[in-house]
Amino acid sequence: MKPKLIILAGFILLFIPHIAYSTDFSVKPPPKSMDKFYSERGKTSEWIEQMRQISKAFGATFISRNQEEWREALKHAQDFGAAYQNAAEMVPEWKDLFDLEASEFFVASIQSKDKEKIEQLSTKLKKTCGQCHRKHNISVWTRYHWPSTKTIKVLDPIDEQEVDYDLFMHRLSFSFKSIEILFEQEKYNESWKAIDNFSKRLQGLRSVCSKCHVTEWTKNSTTVKDYFVGEDMSDALQEIKKNLASGTPDPKLFQKMMEHISTESCKMCHLIHQPATIIQRAWENP
Ligand code: HEC
Ligand code: HEC
Ligand code: HEC
Repeated sequence: MKPKLIILAGFILLFIPHIAYSTDFSVKPPPKSMDKFYSERGKTSEWIEQMRQISKAFGATFISRNQEEWREALKHAQDFGAAYQNAAEMVPEWKDLFDLEASEFFVASIQSKDKEKIEQLSTKLKKTCGQCHRKHNISVWTRYHWPSTKTIKVLDPIDEQEVDYDLFMHRLSFSFKSIEILFEQEKYNESWKAIDNFSKRLQGLRSVCSKCHVTEWTKNSTTVKDYFVGEDMSDALQEIKKNLASGTPDPKLFQKMMEHISTESCKMCHLIHQPATIIQRAWENP
């Protein structure tokens, strides 16, 4: 090989991992044919059931093999092969992500008790699982496991109007900022009023949790509402009010309480809930 070609080949090899693992990664909506497997909310999806079947039969094959119970192992391997093929047919758009040939050879390798082949083929098959999960799980979760915020209305306790979720967020955000701005302007009376507004809105947000957290009511001692909109937030606001009432408020204490709300309520809740809404919105307005 000429030096130039060697360099070129080296370059191509260097860039292949990037092409495969980063630049190429995008979260697209899952194929339409998936919809029917997730049509009933609250019921375990048929796709998930199929996956569990694949996974169980695959695992059972190895347990039997380890126990040298080859007849059992073959039965499980055949169950696996059938379930794997079935899954490939459920979503035609993903057919190429299954290696049906490898699954057939895998069953044969169990039948012939060929330990080396078993190892080799199971590794190959496991790769197909991981590759698809890394490529598509986020799409599937975003589409089917995250209810959209778009249909959620929140009652704004200040003007008693029902508003869209994201508009409510902007109002919540505005009243939160007002507390700080007015405090810094030393308008403590107004800052106090802003706390009341903010506090009412944060309380108002508690009513939306159950729109998605539907199994919430069956839990007892702790509820999801103890997070982000719980008592520690009202305590922090009470703390700020006490500080203001003293007449000579301590800015450090004020900052500390505001920071607590900002990180433990706003930020934490956004870190959990916002990625899904951002992707959903991108799918609506590509
Ligand atoms: C073509 C894509 C694809 C292939 C190939 C695939 N899976 Fe999956 N699998 C998925 C998707 C998508 C999910 C997420 C489903 C969800 O959370 O709603 C999933 C979820 C799962 C789950 C979690 C089920 C649960 O209880 O939530 C298991 C276990 C699983 N797969 C096992 C496997 C195994 C083992 C293989 C390989 C032998 C495999 N999958 C191959 C797409 C695939
Ligand atoms: C638009 C739908 C939606 C709304 C509204 C919503 N959540 Fe969630 N939240 C989810 C989903 C989906 C998850 C992922 C885990 C799950 O399904 O429980 C989650 C996860 C969480 C988690 C982490 C794990 C868990 O389930 O305990 C907490 C805590 C949480 N939410 C609290 C809240 C609180 C508090 C509210 C109301 C102030 C709220 N959520 C409103 C959809 C929502
Ligand atoms: C129950 C969880 C939760 C809590 C608590 C929460 N948010 Fe949000 N916030 C969200 C979600 C979810 C979105 C995305 C809404 C959408 O896009 O439909 C959002 C969106 C926003 C937006 C709009 C972001 C944008 O780029 O358009 C702002 C601003 C905002 N929140 C501010 C705040 C502030 C300030 C607080 C704390 C005082 C707070 N939020 C508390 C869940 C929460």
